[in-house]
Amino acid sequence: MPRAADELQVDGGRLHGRLEALGEIGAVQGPNGERGSSRLALTDADRDGRDLVVAWMRDLGLLVEIDRVGNVFATLPGAEPRLAPVMMGSHVDTVRAGGRFDGNLGVLAGLEVIETVMANGLRPRRGLTVAFFTDEEGARFAPDMLGSLVYVGGMGLEDALDVRAVDDGSRLGDELDRIGYSGSVPVPGAAFPHCYVELHIEQGPILEDAGITIGVVEGVQGISWTEVTFTGRSAHAGTTPMHLRRDPLVAATKVAGFVRSLTEELGGDQVGTVGRFDVQPNLVNVVPSSVTMTIDLRNTAESVLQEAERRLAAFVATVADEDQVAATSRSLARFEPVDFDPSMVDLVEATALRLGHTTHRMPSGAGHDAQMLARVCPTAMIFTPSVDGLSHNIAEYTAPADIDAGANVLLQVVLDRADVG
Ligand code: GLV
Ligand code: MN
Ligand code: MN
Repeated sequence: MPRAADELQVDGGRLHGRLEALGEIGAVQGPNGERGSSRLALTDADRDGRDLVVAWMRDLGLLVEIDRVGNVFATLPGAEPRLAPVMMGSHVDTVRAGGRFDGNLGVLAGLEVIETVMANGLRPRRGLTVAFFTDEEGARFAPDMLGSLVYVGGMGLEDALDVRAVDDGSRLGDELDRIGYSGSVPVPGAAFPHCYVELHIEQGPILEDAGITIGVVEGVQGISWTEVTFTGRSAHAGTTPMHLRRDPLVAATKVAGFVRSLTEELGGDQVGTVGRFDVQPNLVNVVPSSVTMTIDLRNTAESVLQEAERRLAAFVATVADEDQVAATSRSLARFEPVDFDPSMVDLVEATALRLGHTTHRMPSGAGHDAQMLARVCPTAMIFTPSVDGLSHNIAEYTAPADIDAGANVLLQVVLDRADVG
């Protein structure tokens, strides 16, 4: 007998098995046995991860579609095909030394929801779609959330295909062709989903510290990525007197220190990170010729984020002047803070409480595909705790019981929205 929809539960063992199997692709190990993954967007490892997930989608008999920017959608049709489907999803690319849950959980939990619905003989009125979006991390091709941004019409396809990789300069469109993921479905999507729900690990310490199982995500903070290049004059380290140097590395390190003090001055939620630093020619006995660095600024308040950007730009100009180096800046990513749909947020909270979980309403500190989907349909996210608040780290971990809790909240939210009848 099929179980009543509101008692349905996912198969945690099957979900954990898939998380493990996907995590083994591009596996990286830490010195203390930590097990992470390295699948930068559109690399061979990303292709292999995609292929595994697509094979699982096809095994379930889902309709698999790939769009022109490589986003993948797998759909279980609903009883009423003219109704827009409920979409779940996230991403399967990782940062260079990433964890096994970031993104992967939202995709594989979505697949698990669909398999649970099928295994229990349910036929919702709306279809169920699970998606994974191209290049969510933005670590190889900026901006982050690139695939979902193109999907919702926030970036032109040709501009996206022309983005160059930070590591080897390859063109995104060429890399999509190379790994076999240049699909034929047009972007932006012709019809958007009825709603979108993304399960994700928190990637921070709040839930664990408070002993809470389910984070009810109310929105995502604003993100500003800037790349600054200082160009000075390459010179001999032994013979060039200090007063004759035009050293871009000295300027760049001042900016790195400034970013930290800026966050302290602005206080509150302001965070700032210098994550990439390329020094040329990067040799022991040569005054550098140029340094390219990135600055990641985030805040839940758009006005404060703008203030942080203004102060950073002013400081870069001042330092360049003082140190007699040239400075150029370009924006790699800029997204305003996003509020999720209140009725979707309420549904996540009510569902988690009904299932007996503790809940906490919170903004997301990380960027997510959900913040792009929020432009085109009612959207919400569900967070599960991250051990030690760690993510973008191979030690990233979420306990199986917390994963099951999050996946069951996802299942029940989706059943509600898909009108299981
Ligand atoms: C994506 O993971 C981001 O928040 O940078
Ligand atoms: Mn993620
Ligand atoms: Mn990430």
